[in-house]
Order: sequence, then structure tokens, then C-alpha cells
Amino acid sequence: MTTRQLQSIAKEHGTPVVVIDHDVLRRNYAKFRKHLPRVQAYYAVKANPEPEIIRTLYRAGASFDVASLAEFMLVHENIKHLPATQRQAFIWDKIVYANPIKPKETLQALDRYKPLVTYDNWAELRKIRQHAPNAGLALRLRVPNTGSMVELSSKFGCDPGEAVDLIEEAFRIGLVVEGLSFHVGSQCTNFENFVQAMNIAAAVMREAKTRGREIKILDIGGGFPVPYTRHVKPFSALARKINAEIDRLFPKDIEILAEPGRFLVATAAVSLARVIGKAVRDGKTCYYIDDSVYHTFSGIIFDHCEYHLKAFKKGKTEICAVFGQTCDGLDSISQSEELPDLEIEDLVYAENIGAYSSASATWFNGFAPAKIVHVNQFRGQATKSRNTAATKLNPLAN
Ligand SMILES: Cc1ncc(COP(=O)(O)O)c(C=O)c1O
Repeated sequence: MTTRQLQSIAKEHGTPVVVIDHDVLRRNYAKFRKHLPRVQAYYAVKANPEPEIIRTLYRAGASFDVASLAEFMLVHENIKHLPATQRQAFIWDKIVYANPIKPKETLQALDRYKPLVTYDNWAELRKIRQHAPNAGLALRLRVPNTGSMVELSSKFGCDPGEAVDLIEEAFRIGLVVEGLSFHVGSQCTNFENFVQAMNIAAAVMREAKTRGREIKILDIGGGFPVPYTRHVKPFSALARKINAEIDRLFPKDIEILAEPGRFLVATAAVSLARVIGKAVRDGKTCYYIDDSVYHTFSGIIFDHCEYHLKAFKKGKTEICAVFGQTCDGLDSISQSEELPDLEIEDLVYAENIGAYSSASATWFNGFAPAKIVHVNQFRGQATKSRNTAATKLNPLAN
């Protein structure tokens, strides 16, 4: 996407608007597959559940991680036309229900699809036995989340010390444990988390084997980091570590899954907003834009993520603050952005905002979530008015 294309989208659709570039989605998926050839990528739908994104990744050959019945049905929409046997094969091979805690109604609804579901405790096991006896199981392990932007280990994952007992108990009550899973925390820039998690999983698998239980699947979860800043090490370096551990620790015939969310969608989206207010407070210029932390910038609150705003306008920049449109004092997008002197109606944009952003936007204060515009939705679709002179956006996405 060029700056010119973005400006023309804002003109055509108004603001706030989020532009999702499907060429970038396809590139991100291809990059994941290229660097981790032994790993089947299950897109974590929660990161951005836009049906168009799911469709593009489905067409690219991706599998899916869902964590609610609604997400399951969003993926199912793409396969409902398939003959029953093919549909069932897809569900079994290409969907994982990766929320370790499920209401009984969800289990009841899922049972007829015979999906692979995760669990990490005794009560869940009993619930699955009662309400979804046809589901296959993957046991979620607690692993270090050290340094990850979003930490998950205090909420999910069984203690590795009780893992084999939880596996044995599942078999004892007539269920089948197919796999082990873990999550190293989202935006994991400490690659040692993956190494440690894989070592923990390998040890659990070895112990299970000595008790006669063969585990066939390893699900290495999400956490693959996005280059929000220059300090994030390249994905290829993480992939090298993961590939080496796969070869070193696991049998050749083990199936390896991953659940990348952020990695596939973050760099595919740019949000555009308009300056709707301007004031000077304590000597600092404050801009108010027609988006907010309750809307596209919700990742600031829920995802602990920072986004930087840029302007199309050129000129000398100064440190300023940017606030959202709502009346809440919490609605502060940034206290220190470097922007040129902007006027009411000028546009600003934020890159790398495709993950955990519009997915958690609300209608707070009567403001609707930003409109979403999809570009390059179909492979080979001509990008209108490509202008080589315009600034190329998002060099990080490649
Ligand atoms: C079970 C599970 N899998 C996958 C993901 C996606 O993680 P990420 O976006 O860091 O790749 C999450 C995110 O919270 C998750 O909870």
C-alpha cells in the first residue's frame, strides 16, 4: 500500500477506516510455511476474525485455531459446501479448538463435529467426557512466558508434573489424547521460551510413552513476534531455533502444529483517522482523532501494544499527545508522538495494527467501530493507481 492509495481510501470511505491488505496476509502465511516447513499453521482466528481474512487464509491452505463456537462457525462457513466426508476430514485435520475452558453448551454443540480440543485440568476432562465424548484431546502444558508482551501462563496450562496423570485419566475414562500443546505468551521476543517449552513437552511425551501412551501431535501454539520495533529479532532466527529443537527432540513422524495469530495479520493492516480536535495543554499540542482505545486502538489496553501515528503532511515535527474521541480520560493513544503541525481534518495513520485491534473494538460512547476495507483480496488483482513515486508503506511486512 502506498501513502497515495491510503489517502484515496480515506477519501472514498471516510474515517476511521482500517485497510487490510490481503497480499500481505498471503505473504505472511507463505513466510511462516517457508521457514517452518514441518509445522502446519493454524491461524488463531481471535487475532482478527474478519470473514474475508479467514477466506483468504483458507484459500492459501491454512488451518485454523478457534476458541469459541462462533469462531468455529466462522471457519465452518468456508467448508459447509464440501461433501460430508471431506468436511469432517477438514475439521479433524485443520481445526483445533484451543480454548482449554469450554462451557458445556459449546461442548454439546461441538461434539457432532468431532474436533480436536484442548484441556488442562480434571474438571474439564469430566465435562468433555460428558458433553463431547467424540472430541479428540490435546493437553495444554504450562510453560515459561518470560518477557512475552501478553502473558498466558498464569491462566492456562497444567503443571508439567501432573501432565502424564491427566493423560492417563483421559484414556481411563474412554477419551483419546492425541497431542500436547503450549503457548509461550503473545509477542514472544524471548526465543528461549520456545526452546524451554519444547523441552518440557518432549519430557512429558517420553514419560507418557514409558506408561504406554503414544502422543502423536505437538502444538507449539502462538507467540510468533511481529517487528513492531527494530529490536525484534527476525522470524527466520526463531524458526532456526524451533526447527533445530524439532529435529533434536521429537520423532520424525510426529505432527507439528502452531497457532499463529498476530504474526499472520498484524502487518496486514493500516488504520486511518482524522484529526477532529486540537488544543495546547501544559505547553504540549494535543490532537483528538476520530478513533479511540475503545475502538481500533483497543490493543493499547487489552494487548499491551503500542502504536505509532504518522501523518501524510510533511513539515517540521514536534512531540505531541494524541487522544481518542471518547470522553474517557483513559482514552489516550499516545503521550509522545512526533507529528508535524496538524490541522483539523488532517489524516493520521498507524501501521501494523491488524492483530487484537478491531477484533476488540466496542461501541463505547456511541461511536461505531472503524469501517474495514479489504484490498488485494484476490490473488493477482490489480492494485489500482500503484504509484512508484509514492512512499512504500510497511517495509516490515515482507
Ligand atoms: C490458545 C492460543 N493460541 C494462539 C493464540 C495466538 O497467539 P499469537 O497471536 O501470539 O500468535 C492465542 C492468543 O492469545 C491463544 O490464546
